[in-house]
Amino acid sequence: MKYNVLLLGSGGREHALAWKISRSSVLGKFYALPGNPGINSLAEEIDGSVGDFDLILRTVVEKNIDIVVCGPEDPLVNGLKDFLMSSTEVRKDLLFVGPGRAGAMLEGSKDFAKEFMARHGIPTAAYRSFTAGQKAEASAFLRTLRPPYVVKADGLAAGKGVIISQTLQEAEESLEHIFGGQFGTAGAKVVIEEYLDGVEVSFFVLTDGHGYMLLPEAKDYKRIGNGDTGPNTGGMGSVSPVPFCTEDFVEKVRSRIIEPTVRGLESEGLDYRGFIFFGLMNCGGDPYVIEYNVRMGDPETESVMLRIDSDLLAHMAAAARGDLSGERIVVSAQSAVTCIIVSGGYPGKYAKGCPISGLESLEGITVFNAGTAIKDGGLVTSGGRVLALSAVGSGLEEARSKVYAQVERVSFDGASHRDDIALDMINWGKRR
Ligand code: AMP
Ligand code: GLY
Repeated sequence: MKYNVLLLGSGGREHALAWKISRSSVLGKFYALPGNPGINSLAEEIDGSVGDFDLILRTVVEKNIDIVVCGPEDPLVNGLKDFLMSSTEVRKDLLFVGPGRAGAMLEGSKDFAKEFMARHGIPTAAYRSFTAGQKAEASAFLRTLRPPYVVKADGLAAGKGVIISQTLQEAEESLEHIFGGQFGTAGAKVVIEEYLDGVEVSFFVLTDGHGYMLLPEAKDYKRIGNGDTGPNTGGMGSVSPVPFCTEDFVEKVRSRIIEPTVRGLESEGLDYRGFIFFGLMNCGGDPYVIEYNVRMGDPETESVMLRIDSDLLAHMAAAARGDLSGERIVVSAQSAVTCIIVSGGYPGKYAKGCPISGLESLEGITVFNAGTAIKDGGLVTSGGRVLALSAVGSGLEEARSKVYAQVERVSFDGASHRDDIALDMINWGKRR
């Protein structure tokens, strides 16, 4: 069987997924909506937006799509799967990678995720949630905690809804801002939680609703500056594997977090088929959930895809069909490092439309487009995160040197990148 695939999304994560899908032996026709110049060199472009559900439906029908792979979370949280699957125009055997609206609440509502974890005994920071009418209770609760304070908007806030403050005054101000509408309806509720002190790591599984397949873990680098300084970004780089994820740690993640999550989703009748991304904190060797996401991570995917040697499209189709039992993931022993080249000024204001040069001179690097466009026949910047340069090597050190030996060859006006991606993890490996 060959699958006609429709991939939704337009970032570096989707280019990495497209790269992997394009190497599948079960790929039929390949379409991307809307894609980007990198993705569209692998898949036929459908112009439009991932929020345009009618267009997605028309595309599924007209292009005789067998499987829809949804990269970003918004369409999932907004019920794209339910919309497509309930349409009489869609073939009954259409496969969809990603949860329906109910399952996507794991990411769409932090309060829902927290209650889910409480119901299933999954380790996470202690918390309470408050509605706008409970502002006084929320500040009273803050005053019972010690700094740093963690205040979160309940809903989707494009990765900006978490505010960590060192003083009570700042924490109270962030409460005011969230309830005052800084994040729109995402801030109708806030979650205030205990601060988890540890090292973050991202785990990914593909689930068919009862079983799961563990993908390579990864670590991302969120701050703009070297040494984890400056404002948060969408992610400046990633590595896989993560040296502190020993067999013992992974076993704890499986038994304390992944298995109760998958069982919990099944027992609550959520019929979750797709990726689950566990944002974890390693606190002294014990994993805690910071957050769930209902899709792959960006820029983790750029490193993770380079370490999967088996056929991910076949795995995704099996998961979407509801039976992963015949699939085995093969994970490469190689290490992967990804460095993101960003526009000058990012994550603040930045220019767009700057011509990009030097890509053709790269050797042994996989380039994923994150924020690019074609103008006058040439590749130009079109976003804050522009390109992901990824390489594999026999260890993180080798992969890292490949990337950094060449990153300066890529140039555009204002291009910048972090110099220290992977260094902390290489040093961690050496310490043990
Ligand atoms: P998010 O936007 O949900 O990815 O969260 C942003 C970042 O806030 C996370 O990646 C963590 O670094 C941090 N964070 C969230 N919750 C906590 C917590 N309870 N303790 C410590 N750090 C946290
Ligand atoms: N890398 C974090 C995320 O995709 O949310």
